[in-house]
Amino acid sequence: MMKQWEREERRSPVAMPSEEFRSAGHKLVDRIADFLDSLPQRRVTPGESPSKVREALDANRALPESGTDADALLERAAELMFDHSLFNAHPRFWGYVTAGAAPIGMLGELLASAANPNCGAWLLSPMASEIEGQTIRWIAEMLRYPTDCGGLFVSGGNMANIVGFLAGRAAKGGAEIRTKGVDGRRLRAYCSAETHTWIQKAADIAGLGTESVRWVGVDDDFRMDVEALRARIHEDVAAGDEPFLVVGNAGTVSTGAVDPLREIAAVCREFGLWFHVDGAYGALAAVAPEAAHLFAGMDGADSLAVDPHKWLYAPIEAGCTLVRDVAKLRDAFSYHPAYYHFGVEATNYFDLGPQNSRGFRALKVWLALQQVGREGYAQMIGDDMRLSRAMYESVAKHPELEAMTQGLSIATFRYVPAGYSGEAEYLNKLNQELLTRLQQRGEAYLSNAVIGGKYALRACIVNFRTSLGDVESVAELVVRIGREVDGEIRAGLN
Ligand SMILES: Cc1ncc(COP(=O)(O)O)c(C=O)c1O
Repeated sequence: MMKQWEREERRSPVAMPSEEFRSAGHKLVDRIADFLDSLPQRRVTPGESPSKVREALDANRALPESGTDADALLERAAELMFDHSLFNAHPRFWGYVTAGAAPIGMLGELLASAANPNCGAWLLSPMASEIEGQTIRWIAEMLRYPTDCGGLFVSGGNMANIVGFLAGRAAKGGAEIRTKGVDGRRLRAYCSAETHTWIQKAADIAGLGTESVRWVGVDDDFRMDVEALRARIHEDVAAGDEPFLVVGNAGTVSTGAVDPLREIAAVCREFGLWFHVDGAYGALAAVAPEAAHLFAGMDGADSLAVDPHKWLYAPIEAGCTLVRDVAKLRDAFSYHPAYYHFGVEATNYFDLGPQNSRGFRALKVWLALQQVGREGYAQMIGDDMRLSRAMYESVAKHPELEAMTQGLSIATFRYVPAGYSGEAEYLNKLNQELLTRLQQRGEAYLSNAVIGGKYALRACIVNFRTSLGDVESVAELVVRIGREVDGEIRAGLN
């Protein structure tokens, strides 16, 4: 009998006849639309234990020897995902800096994978590479960053910052840094004490070691103390160290603080340092007219990290690094082995970053930017900031809640039992347990911050489904769980 591969029309097991593909795809899209409609009625998370989730999956099942019908498989996958997931698209999800996906982005992901361009090289992704370039320029326009900048899509905020850090290392570390490595030199990077942990990974990956990071103090609003920065640079230079980069935050992860970017830019000019801005969370707020002034000086950054999978609502993953001078990315990342044959006059993205084969992350962002427009994003981001202030005000009014900070779209607060005047440490323990219960129950989802040594609950609204009613429900919910935990701990103590 003829083997499959000998036939004129080979039928591989992974291929799907178009009728089968059409029918399975339509069913899946219907299923997803129903799921999206059902979100407000669901809990944010079922709060199941790892063993319960593994049981639902039948996690120890052996690899199937033979194949299964695709339609049934997709149905089972949808059931597993919709019954056992945490939904960051839920109107009352405000944990970390994590957004729900824009529906057009979901469809964009499907389209991107259908064409499946390899966005490492222009020849392998002609239209996709051009769309990526246009999207980068539109993001720069939105942020009022020079539109003749270069840049590329990466997986998320960490990578976007790490790419900027490595570009700074190559630009300021001299030509030999890529051939000889750090070679005993004491390169130093500066950032505020509120900076996200990506900087530790960056210093580690760059071969500098985490002790090369100088954590500079902050003022009462958690913004970098620029005089302390200047003093630390002087001290390091006097000790024979080599300062090379300063990070400015455009929206810190804990409280949404925006560092004095213009002043940091001036320090960088004074000492000849690379100015990198971490705008992964907050930079996109520059599109909202009421917040734009906070970001004055951001256009002076040598590199800028932004995260479309946060406030542009791109499905995860989509981070983005912008660099004022694209040649600096080439200087940091480009290699041309003999087996490359990509000689066209166009951008080859393998030249600009750490990846070789690259997915088409830009499409979902490109689609949403046009579906919504600048005005649409200004309105949505502005609304998130207004809702965060409303949450802060509603919490501040409650006698058993202590409102702590509000910046961009982040509010922090904690539960303090009525009339409490005991040990500070007890409140930390109480709020920690409160958060664990709140997260597990799934009526709403918060994360935490530590504010001046106090354990705080933290709500970060990057959520286009959240309404005023949602944010106003938080105070009662937190107090209800707070009283319950307080009662139990005290009963246990007695
Ligand atoms: C300010 C800031 N930088 C970097 C990151 C890291 O982003 P990602 O989780 O996409 O890697 C975050 C994440 O919340 C952030 O808030």
